[in-house]
Amino acid sequence: METAEPLSTLLYQGTTTAHRAAENTPYMLALFQGKISAEGYRLWLSRFHPVYAALEEAAEALRHDPAVGRLYLPELFRTEAIERDLAFFHGRDWRAALGDASPATGAYVARLRHVRDEWPLGLVSHQWIRYAGYLHGGATLAGMLSSAYGLSGGEGMAFYDFAEIGDTRAFVRKYHAKMDAVPVGDGDLALLVAEANFAFDANAAITVELGEACAL
Ligand code: HEM
Repeated sequence: METAEPLSTLLYQGTTTAHRAAENTPYMLALFQGKISAEGYRLWLSRFHPVYAALEEAAEALRHDPAVGRLYLPELFRTEAIERDLAFFHGRDWRAALGDASPATGAYVARLRHVRDEWPLGLVSHQWIRYAGYLHGGATLAGMLSSAYGLSGGEGMAFYDFAEIGDTRAFVRKYHAKMDAVPVGDGDLALLVAEANFAFDANAAITVELGEACAL
């Protein structure tokens, strides 16, 4: 059924509190002040690698789904980019540096697998958080990180390479249009907002752990 507000607006409006909480964890605050150590940045890559791997594995599995398959956009995928960054920092044995998944990473990945298997539509909320959020804030973060660590020439920062995306603002507009065209029944709207809130909390939980690991 058609809704008055587009899905992208409903998700944004329905997650303001969780968004603010995700912005204000000690790790995120320190990151935006350029105060995260290089080790803290490497740890971010390790903790989010399994999240992107699960997100993108789900997107592959559901690429022919009539609803969420419309948001199959491999140019946004970040798993390989994170792997290049991990290899830059840790060398060929970068997988060993991942260690076991932390509790917060494990819970996030478990949720993504649950969504993939039990409620494919829910992937819309998860993709929105990681990709639209990234397209909004990624360029700012990339600037901060490269000046904080002197990571020039993109080495160790493949995650923030937007070459395949081009104009991020235009891409976000197209992304919203695709999201807003996904057929969503009235009964699913509240569930999608709840899933987006879950995803914000899952992101925040990882950065809370990172803050603890960095003694912030
Ligand atoms: C760390 C500080 C952060 C700041 C200052 C910040 C700020 C913002 C702002 C100002 C917008 C709105 C842009 C607009 O209306 O055009 C936005 C959008 C968004 N942010 Fe954040 N944010 C932060 C962290 C995060 C985090 C950690 C996530 C996800 C885990 C996230 C996910 C999103 C998403 C999904 C959108 C909506 C994108 C869209 O639909 O176009 N943000 N953010």
